[in-house]
Order: sequence, then C-alpha cells, then structure tokens
Amino acid sequence: MYKIAVAGTGYVGLVAGVCFAEVGHQVTCVDIDESKVNVMKSGVSPIYETGLEELMQKNYAAGRIDYTTDYKSAYRDADAIFIGVGTPEQPDGSANLSYIATVARQIAESVENDCLVVVKSTVPVGTNDKVEQFIQDFLVNDVKVEVASNPEFLAQGSAVHDTLHAERIIIGTESKWAEELLMKLYEPFNLPIVSVNRRSAEMIKYASNDFLALKISYMNDIANLCELVGADVQDVAKGMSYDARIGNKFLNAGIGYGGSCFPKDTKALEYIAKQHGYELRTVKAAIDVNTDQKTMLYKKASKRLITFNGLKVAVLGLTFKPGTDDLREAASLENVPLLLEQGADIYAYDPVGADNFTKVHPEGQHGKGSMTYVSDVEEALKDANVCFIFTEWGEVKAVTPGKYKELMRTPLVYDGRNIYRIEEMQEAGVEYRSIGRKAVEREVVKESRNLELQAVRF
Ligand code: UDX
Repeated sequence: MYKIAVAGTGYVGLVAGVCFAEVGHQVTCVDIDESKVNVMKSGVSPIYETGLEELMQKNYAAGRIDYTTDYKSAYRDADAIFIGVGTPEQPDGSANLSYIATVARQIAESVENDCLVVVKSTVPVGTNDKVEQFIQDFLVNDVKVEVASNPEFLAQGSAVHDTLHAERIIIGTESKWAEELLMKLYEPFNLPIVSVNRRSAEMIKYASNDFLALKISYMNDIANLCELVGADVQDVAKGMSYDARIGNKFLNAGIGYGGSCFPKDTKALEYIAKQHGYELRTVKAAIDVNTDQKTMLYKKASKRLITFNGLKVAVLGLTFKPGTDDLREAASLENVPLLLEQGADIYAYDPVGADNFTKVHPEGQHGKGSMTYVSDVEEALKDANVCFIFTEWGEVKAVTPGKYKELMRTPLVYDGRNIYRIEEMQEAGVEYRSIGRKAVEREVVKESRNLELQAVRF
C-alpha cells in the first residue's frame, strides 16, 4: 500500500482521496480552507454526493484518511501526489491554471522523497510537461519528481460509484517508472487501464467529454427539427439506439447540457484548437446549439403568453441535473433572470439546489418580479399560471399529470426534460410543450375535454 497526498478537496480530489483510502492506501487530503478541513475531519462531506460521507467516516475511523491544511507534512514523504484542484474557465474560454501552479510550487518546496505527481484536473494538452518543468525549476531537495496525467471521468451524483467501478482508467506517463507506479496504485481497483503518453491522456479527457456534449447537442438539434417536421425525438432516439455503433446513452434531448465539465471543456478545446490555428467546427456547433437550447422553453412560452408580468410561475428543478446541488451552467440560471425581468412571481422547488440558488437570487422582490422558494412541489404548482420543468428530479417525475390540472390556475406546462407522455398530458387536460415532440395545444385540450363531456353525455 502507498502513501498518497491529494491536493484539493472538490468533487475530483475528495472522491479520489476517499476511494484510494477505501482500497487500502494511506491518504492525506490537502485543502487551503481550514474550516472545510475541520468539517471533513468531523465526517461531514462539503459536497452532496451519494455514498461519500459514509466512506469518509469509515476510512477516517480506520485511520486510512486524514485532512489537513499543512501541505508540507502531507507532501514531504508521499509516494504520489494527486492534483485535483479546479481549472475554471476564463472569459476567453481558456482554463485558469493558477491553482495548479500554486500546488506545483508547494510540491517543489516540500518533497523530500522521490515521488510521482499525478494531475487529475482537466488541463490543456501540454500542461503536464509544463508542470513537470515548473516543479524541476523550484525543487528544493535532490529528489526525483515526475508528472503523470490521470484524467477523471466521474459524473456528479454518482462520483463514488463511477470511481470505484470506472469503465477505464487513463494513465499518461513518460517513463516506465511512472507507468508502473500508477499501475500499482490502481491495482486494487481491478479495472481496465489504458496506458498512453501524457499528451494523449490529456487529449482523451477533452475528446471524451466533448464527444458526449456533441451527442447531446446533436440530439437537441434533431429535436428542434423533429418539432418542425412532426416527428417525435424520443422515438427517433429509441430507433437510433439499437445501432450498437450509436449506443443507447446520452441521446436525451432537453434544455441543453450544464455542469462543471461539458460547457467548460467544449470551450477549452475550441480555444486550444484556435491557438494552434485550427477551427474545431464540430465542437463549436455543439456550443452554439447548447447556448440556444437553454432558453428554448422560455422562447416558446414567451410566444404563447406575450407577458409574464404578474403571473405565478412554478419552476421545478434548479440544478443542472438530478442528484446534485450543483448549479453550474444550469439552464435555470439563464431562465430565472429572464422571467424575473419580465415581472414573473416565481415559486421554485428543488430538493437540494435551492440553498445554492438563494445566493444568486435571494428570496424576495427582484425588479418587477419576485422569488419564493418552496419545499414541496405541490406548493409551487398551487394556483400557478405556468410551470417550467428544468430538472428531472424523482420528486418532479412523481407528479401525476392530473395534479397539474388540479393545482394550477391554468394547466400550462413547459417540460425541458420530456418527463411525460404526450397522451397522458392530453388526457389530463394539460396544455403541454416539451422538446422535440408534438405539443398539446390549448385547442386540443379543449377539444379532448369536449370529447370527454360528449362521452359522458352519451
Ligand atoms: C460529465 C461526464 O459525464 C463525466 O464523465 C465528466 O467527467 C464530467 O462531465 P456531469 O457533468 O457530472 O458529468 O453530468 P452528466 O450526467 O454527464 O450530465 C451533464 C449534462 O448533460 C446535464 O445537464 C444533463 O442534464 C445533460 N444531458 C445528459 C442531456 O441533456 N442529455 C443526455 O442524454 C445526457
């Protein structure tokens, strides 16, 4: 078993650290935030992630994981130091590497043994070469330090599972020593390992994420066309999915991808290409489609309603996907300000994301509109004039079509996640618009109700 230090305790760093401890390594997680360190020591996870807290408590009790702000003691005699700090997007689309540089400098000043520095953060191709050079330049002691790339593919909400049962581990190294050490560190996971050079490993991360983003944008583009030609995007996706070359995942049309990876990594790769004088047209198209898609429902509703002024608007779901309290690049962040600007009185429901949303939009008056957070879906729907579904939380999916009809003042639903079958909404008498599918228009609702009445009469 090895002595591992992990720099950064966000999604990537903390989950990696806990999982390395779980398979038996001795792990120290380093963070600059003392209060966060104390919270973690008390067994509380600073992020909402299924199963993480249990593993933190179990491995802390077993003495296999600890948390500290004292990077020197953590790095001094580590066999490997994993870097999992953020690389946030800058206004021009490039990645901000200042956190990585800070950690690299601290490593150079601290290590007293030969050690492998493993970059887990997503970084532009060639960054690991620079990190290695940077560490060499500032190295205080006469020891061997090499840098390896080991990109992370976990999805939020299933991060622990994704790490312990990853479909592949990518390792990018420039020496046999580094390759063998990384292989040994991952041996207890018993997972397929793909070993390539450093630059290819860096590229695999971007190429994978951007391909998935492209897949989603492609389906959203097709969805918009489906609406125009009278096809149903869900049926189209189903038909496509039987072709093993296409596969059956990530074909769900909706209100665009959000989160910490796809938006950032698409822009970053486009930027990298530009720097090399190349235009990455496919990825650029994925970005453009996604930007438009996020406000697709708002645009549809604006045409139908003319104004939101004074309307009670139910917003179901705020996070960029279910299973996380993360709001980064969520469609709600685009749509809520547009609705508030128009004077809407929003009643928002999200099982875990509301707290974070209050930091951007506190409860109360916002210009002409207002923001109220409710802890129950039905409370949001009560007397609403219109409802927007932004996140497919289980609690939202559990709302039956009849409830919209019963609770809302006017049962008008804009579903960004295609949760309901068209027929069931029509039968319930709900005016319903979703993505890439036939709309249940006001007239159709009226008509179906008339038919119902006639059926009763006869
Ligand atoms: C993603 C990748 O899945 C992961 O491998 C990578 O390491 C980080 O980025 P994450 O951002 O946590 O993970 O979430 P993911 O489940 O991939 O969803 C991203 C976004 O795409 C969400 O907004 C989701 O709603 C959207 N999405 C996903 C679709 O709109 N349609 C789909 O079919 C799938």
